[in-house]
Amino acid sequence: MARGRFITFEGGEGAGKSTQVQRIAARLRANGREVVTTREPGGSPGAESIRDIVLRGDADRWSPVTETLLMYAARRDHVERVIRPSLERGAWVICDRFADSTRAYQGAAGGVDPAFITALETYILETTRPDLTLVFDLPAQVGLDRAHARAGAEMRFESKGMAFHERLRAGFQAIAAAEPERCAVIDATATMDVVEAAVWAAVEARLAVHG
Ligand code: TMP
Repeated sequence: MARGRFITFEGGEGAGKSTQVQRIAARLRANGREVVTTREPGGSPGAESIRDIVLRGDADRWSPVTETLLMYAARRDHVERVIRPSLERGAWVICDRFADSTRAYQGAAGGVDPAFITALETYILETTRPDLTLVFDLPAQVGLDRAHARAGAEMRFESKGMAFHERLRAGFQAIAAAEPERCAVIDATATMDVVEAAVWAAVEARLAVHG
């Protein structure tokens, strides 16, 4: 059985990723692929427990370095128990956020040394890396307005200041520019149908979707 494909959706707050994960999963299933949809932080029972402590509370509850370690503890469990076994049996895995979120949130926006994050990627992810990453781009204020409209308990990152969210956007743009073979930038200000068409075009162009 050939290894499945690993697709990640990334971007700032309120970019509309979660809706698009479900739409693209449906299109891949219609093409005969087994698809596993998942998210980070979380995606396995242990990682969901870590999500509960990392996304709630005051903005400064955890330092950016501690956040990085919590994200990577959750990610290791998720990779070991869900992502890697799914890929090995031939399923396609679509993940709402992955390692680029740590680079952008804790690294570019939070100030954690990129070399520390790269070392964690090496030791914790090993060879499990995305085949394709869709980077959802939109102005920070537009995304925050959307995120506040659906406000719940998991608001630690939304409540960081506007300068943080501007650094975050620039961080994601820099990741996409540095790795154009892996990343496609999606204009997330468009309507849901237009965004879906753009994501599907990127998936079809870069991966063999027809099973
Ligand atoms: P979301 O489910 O709304 O995307 O929320 C997840 C939050 O966690 C979001 O504010 C981004 C943040 N996050 C990080 O800061 N670092 C990470 O590595 C991941 C996966 C998420």
